[in-house]
Amino acid sequence: MIKKRVFSGSRPTGCLHLGNYLGGVKGYLALQDREDLDCIYSIVDLHGITTPYEPKKMQSKIREVVLDYLGCGLDPKKCHLMTQSQVPEHIELAYLLGTIYPVSRMEQLPTYKQKKIENPHYINVGLFYYPILMAADILVYKAELVPVGKDQLPHIEVAREIARKFNSMFSHVFPEPKAFETQGTYIPSLLGFGKMSKSIKGSFILLTDDLKTIEERLAKMPTDSGKGEILPKEGGAANLLVLVELFMGKKEREDNEKKYLGEGIRYGELKEKLAQAIYEELKPIQEKRKYFENNPELVSKILEEGRLYCSKIAKQTLMEVKKAMGLV
Ligand code: AMP
Ligand code: TRP
Repeated sequence: MIKKRVFSGSRPTGCLHLGNYLGGVKGYLALQDREDLDCIYSIVDLHGITTPYEPKKMQSKIREVVLDYLGCGLDPKKCHLMTQSQVPEHIELAYLLGTIYPVSRMEQLPTYKQKKIENPHYINVGLFYYPILMAADILVYKAELVPVGKDQLPHIEVAREIARKFNSMFSHVFPEPKAFETQGTYIPSLLGFGKMSKSIKGSFILLTDDLKTIEERLAKMPTDSGKGEILPKEGGAANLLVLVELFMGKKEREDNEKKYLGEGIRYGELKEKLAQAIYEELKPIQEKRKYFENNPELVSKILEEGRLYCSKIAKQTLMEVKKAMGLV
């Protein structure tokens, strides 16, 4: 059976948070279980260096993400795990694809504009090239499905456009990749506005948090009086209900919505129950993660196997691309 390929990745900016888990990794997990798919999941360190970082901590941050992946249940028997910079063909393909993509399109991307605002003193060419490198990550494996959160959809669109343009300018080499979204495709921030993000303090719950830390983080979430004539559409209270639905179920959310419109919600109680529910889901992940943390050689072996597998495919694609472009 010819299997369709899946590719996705997370930046090594530290331990993963609930947004990464629900929007990204849950999709990776669902797809690794399908017999008809061949999944590659990456730690995209080359994307990680486009925003401020500490070189001395880079290797340990890469490890954190691999451990989170393995703790969540990514299984080297069902998928391949790799570090992006270990397969340099990603970069080579990115350069080649960059030559067919207009600068004007790149400047309009919302993620580029956002990063410029977040790090006004760190607007580098790598940041500008970010979506092209991401397209190369996907296309170097001819991946057709890409599990990502909603924030990445504009980048998937770039990869699709590049695939189409390359195929029409040279010859048909690439499939058009599609995003695969989970139920938790957009996890809002604990602060009550924007998305949960590692770069925004107070916005996240980490997969490695213990019960007390989760309780403390939720306790700080801004809420309202707990009562009103219409349900809140945005802000802390609305975001809390999103998390209630994802971790306690739709019925629990509906019951709380009824309370909001009736006798009122007691947020203190609800937050405690929610913290417990989140921790119940994270506990087995943390235990599995510990196992791999205590077996560093096993983790290195998993990554090395991933590198070897991915290198072979990437080299083949590069050869096809260079032939199509008249470079060999
Ligand atoms: P990053 O850590 O930014 O590299 O993201 C890794 C994965 O997590 C990507 O698939 C993102 O789309 C996803 N992700 C990050 N933040 C969120 C969020 N707040 N809600 C849903 N998915 C997210
Ligand atoms: N840009 C993605 C993010 O910030 C990470 C990423 C890099 C990625 N290359 C990718 C995701 C290829 C999917 C496929 O989350």
